[in-house]
Amino acid sequence: MFDRFEALPADALLGLIVAYRDDPNPQKVDLGVGVYRDEEGNTPIMSAIQKAAAKHLETEDSKTYIGPVGVAGFVDGIKSLVFGNGSPIVADNRIAAIQTPGGCGALRVGSELLNRDAQDLTVWVSDPTWANHEPLIGSAGLKIQSYPYFDKATGGVKFEQMDEQLAKLGPNDVVLLHGCCHNPTGADLSFEQWQQITARAEKQGFIPFVDIAYQGLGDGLEEDVKGFRYLAERVPELVLATSCSKNFGLYRERTGGLMVQTANATQATAIQTQIQDVARANYSMSPAYGGYLVEAVLQDDSLRQEWMTELDAMATRVKSLREGLVEKLAQRGVSKDFSFIREQKGMFSFLGISKEQVHELKDKYSIYMADSSRINVAGLSTSCLDYVADALTAVIDG
Ligand code: LMR
Repeated sequence: MFDRFEALPADALLGLIVAYRDDPNPQKVDLGVGVYRDEEGNTPIMSAIQKAAAKHLETEDSKTYIGPVGVAGFVDGIKSLVFGNGSPIVADNRIAAIQTPGGCGALRVGSELLNRDAQDLTVWVSDPTWANHEPLIGSAGLKIQSYPYFDKATGGVKFEQMDEQLAKLGPNDVVLLHGCCHNPTGADLSFEQWQQITARAEKQGFIPFVDIAYQGLGDGLEEDVKGFRYLAERVPELVLATSCSKNFGLYRERTGGLMVQTANATQATAIQTQIQDVARANYSMSPAYGGYLVEAVLQDDSLRQEWMTELDAMATRVKSLREGLVEKLAQRGVSKDFSFIREQKGMFSFLGISKEQVHELKDKYSIYMADSSRINVAGLSTSCLDYVADALTAVIDG
C-alpha cells in the first residue's frame, strides 16, 4: 500500500534548519526558525535550568508514570505565571489543566476538545498567523477562517478591520489570539486593544483561544500577559496554550500546558476529564522531564530569580538587535522605512519584502528567513548587523 503515498516537501520552517546547516558560506546568517541565540549563535541552556537538571538527576528515584495531569507542580506554577499569583480564577478552581508535549500539544488537545462540542465551531486566526496553527487546529477537525490583523503599510495591527470582523462573530466562533510577541509579525495588540477585544468577546460570546509562547520575551513576564489577564478576568470561558520552549529554553523537551478556563468549578472538573481523555487517545500522557525542570525553577526562590534575570537579559538583547538593525539600515539610506522593527515585540519581525528578494538573500548572501520575510531577530548578532544591512539594502535598492 505504501506505493500509494507520495513524499512531501520539507516543512517550510524546519527545512531552513537543514539548508542553513549545509551552507558552507562562513558569513551565513540564520534568521529562520524561532529559537533564541546568543551573540555566538548558540542556543544556550539557561543556567537555572542546568542547576534544576543537576538537582533532578540526584533526586529522581523512579521512572514510573506520573499520571494524566503531568507534573502537578509544573501545572500549578504555570497557572500562576500566566494568570498571576493569587488569581481568583485559579483560587475558584475554574481552570482545567494538563501538561502537554510543548505548546503544539496544548494547541492540538485544546482544538480536539473544542471539536468534541456538538456545535459546529469555526476558529478565527489572525492574518497571518504562525505557520503551524492551521495544521494543528485544522487536523483536529475544526473549520478555520482568518480575521484581518497585520497592516503591511505600518508594520502594526489593522485593529479597526480586525474589530469589524470580531463584531460579526458569535458563540459558535473561537478567536485565536497571540498573547504577546505575535508570531510571525511581531505586531502586538496594545492594552487598550485587549480591552476592546474583551468587550467584544463579552458582547458577542465568542470563545478566546490564546496562545502564549513567548511570555517574558517582549516587555517582561508580567507586562506580556497584562492584556491576557484583563481578558481572562472578564470572560467566563477561554482556552489557553502555553509553551516553555522559548522562555525556559526547553525547545527539545517539549514542555507546555493546556489550560481551559470555565465558568465554574463543576464545569472545570468535567473539562479536566475531557482533556485527559483527548490526551490519552493521542499520546497517553505528556513527557515529564521538562515539567520537573520548570517546577524546580519556579519553586526555588533563588533559581526563579536567576531564571528571571537571564530571561530579562535575553529580551533586552533582542530589543537592542532591533534597534541596531533599524539604525544600520537607516545609515545606508535604504528606500524602505524599517523603523517599525523597533516598535515590534518578541523574537519576530516581518520585513515586508518579496519572496524573490527573500530567495536572493539566501542565494547570494546565505541569509536565511521564512518565505514570508519573517525574521527571527534573535538570530542576528551585533557582529553580523552590517553584513545583513548591506545585503538587505542591495537586494531592495539594487
Ligand atoms: C517558529 O515559529 O519558528 C517556532 O515556533 C518553531 C516552530 O516549530 O515553528
